[in-house]
Amino acid sequence: MREYSIAAIPADGIGPEVIAAGVQVLEALEKRMGDVKFTVKNFDWGSDYYKKNGIMMPADGLAQLKPFDAIYFGAVGAPDVPDHITLWGLRLPICQGFDQYANVRPTKILPGITPPLRNCKEGDLDWVIVRENSEGEYSGHGGRAHKGLPEEVGTEVAIFTRVGVTRIMRYAFKLAQARPRKLLTVVTKSNAQRHGMVMWDEIAAEVAQEFPDVTWDKMLVDAMTVRMTLKPQSLDTIVATNLHADILSDLAGALAGSLGVAPTGNIDPERRFPSMFEPIHGSAFDITGKGIANPVASFWTAAQMLDHLGEADASARLMRAVEKVCAAGILTPDVGGTANTKQVTDAVIDAIHSSNI
Ligand code: IPM
Ligand code: MG
Repeated sequence: MREYSIAAIPADGIGPEVIAAGVQVLEALEKRMGDVKFTVKNFDWGSDYYKKNGIMMPADGLAQLKPFDAIYFGAVGAPDVPDHITLWGLRLPICQGFDQYANVRPTKILPGITPPLRNCKEGDLDWVIVRENSEGEYSGHGGRAHKGLPEEVGTEVAIFTRVGVTRIMRYAFKLAQARPRKLLTVVTKSNAQRHGMVMWDEIAAEVAQEFPDVTWDKMLVDAMTVRMTLKPQSLDTIVATNLHADILSDLAGALAGSLGVAPTGNIDPERRFPSMFEPIHGSAFDITGKGIANPVASFWTAAQMLDHLGEADASARLMRAVEKVCAAGILTPDVGGTANTKQVTDAVIDAIHSSNI
């Protein structure tokens, strides 16, 4: 029996609803596979915890998480707590403290989901966005002076280091190499930003030498939005800075039909720390408690977690089950269906147990 310990942090909004669904699906996989076991421990950190304790997680939070094999994360953000507090109190300290420098965001059009682009079919859009996750525009470097006065100044400094750019570039080239098309697009804004972004371009060219079988090209981030929309077939693996990839991955989710299906792995490729898996969609207060949140992103990110843990069979089985359920039209309202979270979850569990999956 292969055993894994998972730290679940459902946190805010629809996070608890979709993580509960994901844990049920992991239990179904345990039964179906027979040789793998997941021990899930729940952590009640997040905005409610903040309202009681004045902090998003305990001071020794990272030490508590460190022994786990992986972290399964819901969403952070509450209407009555500033977003920069929730974010910098929980999710970013985990990403940065555990040096989860590769944020991996696959997107494809799942069967049964009608994408918004008129001429885009299943198979035309099958991308993985690799987001630099430890520095760049999210380095937290900057400050404010002369607060409240007319001469007030605020700076938000993007930090790019040779180590940081080289390692994410290497990760992206390796990932591109492992995919059938061996195609990588490197995104920057090196026409307007002539320091850190030009260094990205130079490091991309250097790292490319290690991967002669990968075809790669460069795009400026503004032109990239046009290419993603008008020529989705021309892209496969994409690497970009923390902020650029944040924006491009929302566009990718929308082009694939909904942010409700988009997953993320926050990965420490060196495996010194647990990696963290989460849906991209956020806390979604407009639908919290209604039971209609799309659990597909949290299932897909569970599949990413299984892959990371080395359970490729369980991961593939989970994705086949999700695709079968989507193809059968059992979909939540965000992707044009009428099913609720429980109906989609139950259908995926049934599919996991069915003999042809
Ligand atoms: C994401 C989100 C976060 C980010 C927010 C919640 C700060 O948009 O995961 O894409 O920008 O990293
Ligand atoms: Mg985002």
